[in-house]
Amino acid sequence: MLGSRASRIGLLVLKQLTTGKSICGPRLATRSFTQFLQPIYHQQSGTELFRGAIFQKHHQFSTTTASTSDQGIEQEETISVTFVDKDGDEKNIKVPIGMSMLEAAHENDIELEGACEGSLACSTCHVIVMDMEYYNKLEDPTDEENDMLDLAFGLTETSRLGCQVIASPELDGVRLAIPAATRNFAVDGYVPKPH
Ligand code: FES
Repeated sequence: MLGSRASRIGLLVLKQLTTGKSICGPRLATRSFTQFLQPIYHQQSGTELFRGAIFQKHHQFSTTTASTSDQGIEQEETISVTFVDKDGDEKNIKVPIGMSMLEAAHENDIELEGACEGSLACSTCHVIVMDMEYYNKLEDPTDEENDMLDLAFGLTETSRLGCQVIASPELDGVRLAIPAATRNFAVDGYVPKPH
């Protein structure tokens, strides 16, 4: 008796599982079904979110890559600059727009001193713009630059401080002479005051 009842319940459960019908009435069945689906739904939502995150990440990565390559293109904008050393030897280099002539010289192993590293406290980055046409294209020197230029060795009408000359498209083709000597404060007897 007990055995046959148990087997009937077993059959009912098996039927519910195979047909999807409930033995507990429609309301409970609907709720159970919904509850049953919730974790799956959330799991799917989570999967969708995860997929979305991957897509977004991938999408952002693509954008970054594009902008990086755009930056690369910008960084490749250069002008042609020729340095002429004290022996008359010429060296032509490509200088990125926005870079100072002092930095460009240092990056290309050109002997331009720049003792104060561009802070307008020396005149050792003195260069002579060889063509007046190019000299006139430059921004006027500031008072600070003029003060330092006054101390430069072998000052000319077209002298500038290399750290203050910034590469711009209109300077493409400029030629800069490096004077035979620079007035180095230390060599010329300047004794720095102790702090
Ligand atoms: Fe000193 Fe240019 S490096 S003023």
